[in-house]
Amino acid sequence: MRKQKNLVNLLVAIALLLLVAGLLASCAGAPGAPGPAGPQGPAGPAGPTGPQGAQGPAGPAGPQGPAGAQGPAGKDASAATTAAATAATYIGSDKCAACHKDISDVYAKSGHAFKLNKVVDGKAPTMPFTKIDQLPAGYTWNDISYIIGGYNWKYRFIDKKGYIITDKPGATISDTNYLNQWNFANPAASKEAGWSKYSSGVKELKYTCGPCHTTGYKPTGNQDNMPGVVGTWSEPGIRCEACHGPGSLHAANPYGASVQVDRDPELCGKCHIRSDVTKIDAKSGPFVDHHEQYEEFYQSKHLALKCVDCHNPHQGVVQLRQAKAQTTRTLCENCHFKEARNQSAAHLAVKAQCIDCHMPRLIASSASVDASKFAGDTRVHVFAIDPDATAQFSPDGKFLVSQVSLDWACKSCHGTGKASPKTDAELKARAKGYHTAK
Ligand code: HEC
Ligand code: HEC
Ligand code: HEC
Ligand code: HEC
Ligand code: HEC
Ligand code: HEC
Ligand code: HEC
Ligand code: HEC
Repeated sequence: MRKQKNLVNLLVAIALLLLVAGLLASCAGAPGAPGPAGPQGPAGPAGPTGPQGAQGPAGPAGPQGPAGAQGPAGKDASAATTAAATAATYIGSDKCAACHKDISDVYAKSGHAFKLNKVVDGKAPTMPFTKIDQLPAGYTWNDISYIIGGYNWKYRFIDKKGYIITDKPGATISDTNYLNQWNFANPAASKEAGWSKYSSGVKELKYTCGPCHTTGYKPTGNQDNMPGVVGTWSEPGIRCEACHGPGSLHAANPYGASVQVDRDPELCGKCHIRSDVTKIDAKSGPFVDHHEQYEEFYQSKHLALKCVDCHNPHQGVVQLRQAKAQTTRTLCENCHFKEARNQSAAHLAVKAQCIDCHMPRLIASSASVDASKFAGDTRVHVFAIDPDATAQFSPDGKFLVSQVSLDWACKSCHGTGKASPKTDAELKARAKGYHTAK
């Protein structure tokens, strides 16, 4: 019995085991849930170095450093040089042209660039609007070192020793009638081009004109080792660094070092001056002597303006006149619109310009001028017209009166056949209150 019971138990146990095994077998295909992550393994060996990345943005500017020790006193008290400019040197306008092409292109046709012109390989220099084709008697181009001027009014010559030519080569007796200045034609005075005298017969006339005609001028030494030349320069003619100062530091680091930018009329007045600003010197003719624009300007209410309000310092006037373009940056009419509105119909009909009356050709640079026609070769900068005055010069003839008189404002037309002749009384009557609305 007991044996039977044990067998039953055994059978039941086997059956249960089979059932469990069957159940287990029925779910054996499904994967079990993932176990927890094992512990991190040890770091692998270092990889190869990667390529260099792009440079990051610049960090913020550091604090300003302490002021350096004071430098030694400058040599030239008149030159407005900063500490940076003192250290800078002259590098030449070709270098500036590399980065300032537009300015250099217009400048290359302006008078400043052609003030003093070297004769290279015995060939006459070339000019934008004139032709240099005359030589004083006895000379060839091989005897000339430089041409002075020749851009617009006249030219003179320097010999191979640096003296301004005033006589025949090797002259022993001075010829005070020797012709040594070539003057261009002046249609306003009905004058053809031709020769005139300049310090003729004077022995060994030195070229002392460098301060106004060259760039980087120094009063010591002799340029090109020519004994007749007083001083040296970095470039002949008035070039970029004549107004902006030496540019080596700026060219090397344009954003770090700037050059001088001076809009003061005194900058122009360093050269466009003859003597004392309180008087405008006259010369025979009578005319105003040339390069006195600053004195003239100083005598006028336009002293409130700057030369560069009207003039582009890089372009000048002549090349714009040649191109038949507007010759100044601003027009008289921009500021004086009321006067522009009220003008004589007769004058408007003949296209008389503001400058015909207010800036007559009172100045003589060349010899191609005629005072009896009220025709010099350069316009004056005094502007105001005195309707009560006819005399233009002081009684001794030495100085200009600071206002334009009716002689010069009106008679270049009304006294020369370009318009009906008028008496002083008729001119005066019309001139008073000229721009008053009628
Ligand atoms: C390598 C190129 C480079 C050269 C060479 C160079 N400049 Fe400049 N110049 C510049 C740049 C760029 C500026 C504008 C800098 C700025 O805005 O701060 C500049 C500005 C100027 C200014 C205006 C400064 C101001 O304060 O408004 C003047 C004037 C000037 N340059 C003159 C000259 C002259 C004169 C020379 C030759 C002696 C010259 N530059 C040579 C690149 C140059
Ligand atoms: C006769 C004096 C004079 C000469 C020569 C001169 N400059 Fe200037 N320049 C000035 C003045 C004045 C300014 C101030 C801005 C103005 O009124 O046009 C100026 C402004 C500048 C400026 C900054 C403003 C602008 O117009 O872009 C640059 C750049 C410059 N000059 C470069 C030159 C270079 C290059 C040369 C030579 C090719 C040169 N300058 C020759 C007087 C001069
Ligand atoms: C104070 C400055 C200054 C001095 C010094 C100076 N000049 Fe000039 N010169 C000028 C100016 C500015 C001009 C142009 C404006 C004018 O004529 O009104 C000029 C114009 C000229 C012209 C005409 C240029 C042309 O293209 O037609 C000649 C030639 C000339 N000078 C010769 C000389 C000689 C020679 C000397 C020395 C004996 C001399 N100058 C001394 C400032 C000067
Ligand atoms: C109110 C405007 C104005 C001002 C300011 C001015 N000018 Fe003029 N300038 C003129 C006009 C207009 C002309 C004649 C232009 C023409 O013939 O078409 C002229 C002509 C010139 C000429 C003669 C060019 C020629 O061949 O006839 C020189 C040189 C000159 N100016 C220099 C200067 C100087 C230097 C200053 C400052 C001292 C100055 N100007 C201030 C308007 C001005
Ligand atoms: C370093 C001396 C010097 C300085 C500074 C100077 N000039 Fe001149 N300027 C001259 C000389 C010399 C001439 C005659 C050039 C020639 O005819 O070859 C002249 C001629 C001119 C002319 C007539 C020629 C042309 O191209 O139309 C004008 C206009 C003029 N200058 C205006 C100015 C103005 C405006 C300034 C100031 C921003 C100035 N100058 C600064 C010496 C100078
Ligand atoms: C940028 C402005 C400006 C320009 C451009 C200008 N002027 Fe003037 N002008 C003045 C100022 C400012 C005065 C002095 C104040 C006044 O009298 O209204 C003056 C004064 C005058 C005077 C003297 C007035 C008097 O009572 O004595 C005359 C004449 C004159 N200008 C004519 C001209 C002529 C001609 C031109 C063109 C070649 C010209 N102006 C260009 C601003 C200008
Ligand atoms: C650019 C040449 C020119 C200048 C400068 C000039 N005039 Fe005239 N003017 C003429 C012409 C042309 C006429 C008309 C025909 C004629 O009278 O011959 C005229 C006509 C006149 C008339 C008669 C018509 C009218 O408007 O009453 C008077 C008066 C006169 N001008 C006065 C002057 C006075 C005053 C000045 C100087 C402040 C002057 N002119 C400067 C060319 C000029
Ligand atoms: C025909 C000659 C003539 C012409 C052209 C001329 N003016 Fe005048 N202008 C005069 C006379 C004359 C006076 C003096 C009037 C007086 O003092 O009563 C004068 C005076 C002025 C004055 C001083 C203020 C005033 O009204 O008296 C200014 C500014 C002036 N003119 C600007 C100009 C301008 C700008 C132009 C060109 C749009 C111009 N003028 C054209 C003859 C002229």
